[in-house]
Amino acid sequence: MAIFLKNIVNSVNESIRLYKKGKNPWPEGEEGLMVRDHQKMVGGKWDQIGRLQFEFMKKSGLKPEDILCDVACGSFRAGRFFISYLNPGNYLGIEKQQILVQEGKKKEIDPIIWSEKKPEIVISDCFEFDQFSKNPNFAIANSLFTHLSSQDIKLCLAKLFLKAAPGCKFFATYFKSDVKVFHIHKSHSSRRFQYTKSQMINFGEITGWEVEYIGDWKHPVNQVMVCYIKPGTAFSQKEHRSMGD
Ligand SMILES: C[S@@+](CC[C@H](N)C(=O)[O-])C[C@H]1O[C@@H](n2cnc3c(N)ncnc32)[C@H](O)[C@@H]1O
Repeated sequence: MAIFLKNIVNSVNESIRLYKKGKNPWPEGEEGLMVRDHQKMVGGKWDQIGRLQFEFMKKSGLKPEDILCDVACGSFRAGRFFISYLNPGNYLGIEKQQILVQEGKKKEIDPIIWSEKKPEIVISDCFEFDQFSKNPNFAIANSLFTHLSSQDIKLCLAKLFLKAAPGCKFFATYFKSDVKVFHIHKSHSSRRFQYTKSQMINFGEITGWEVEYIGDWKHPVNQVMVCYIKPGTAFSQKEHRSMGD
């Protein structure tokens, strides 16, 4: 009983704290770029978090012939490594802030690499994965679910599920909370959202994914990792294309 009451108190306190903190977020878009540069707008620690994602995905099996969707690619903190590594046309980036994509392309990626590797970029704030010409068999969303309401997380998962190839592995980071937090604000890139492990597992299961909990992956501000797997046989990308999908 005492633990139950303590959890309720913690849950209320944490909900109030994050509500107050989220009242005046940093501006997004062009206005945001006037007060912070494209590296700071995605959270800074530019090289550390960029490389962390790249090395993690390679360890998780990403090969140049795979098709990767970088969900909320921002200004290519990790995208610049993925674009160079993957075969032409195999990097799919989706992002809601066009200005971040423009800045990242201009300032972070060699134009020769960009024209050789032909990344596909979709600007969308409602997860329009159907605009990509290919079906990803890997996806990553670093530091996206940390800024989304539960409704938007489920929307992202449901829409990616429709586009993903069978066997697709979608790695997503989030802030882990021991108690359920009631988020009153809408999603925003500068607001913090946090969830329990069972909430994150549930979001995946109700949208069709199998869920493998990873937890700590050495993220410098303790975002933890969960992997959503689309059921079905993971074809090699060569086999998948020859099926005409
Ligand atoms: C903390 S940044 C992380 C960016 C990138 N994943 C990285 O690791 O550098 C969060 C990103 O999510 C993007 N974002 C937020 N909501 C989004 C949505 N509904 N659709 C696409 N991108 C979104 C923001 O614009 C921002 O670029």
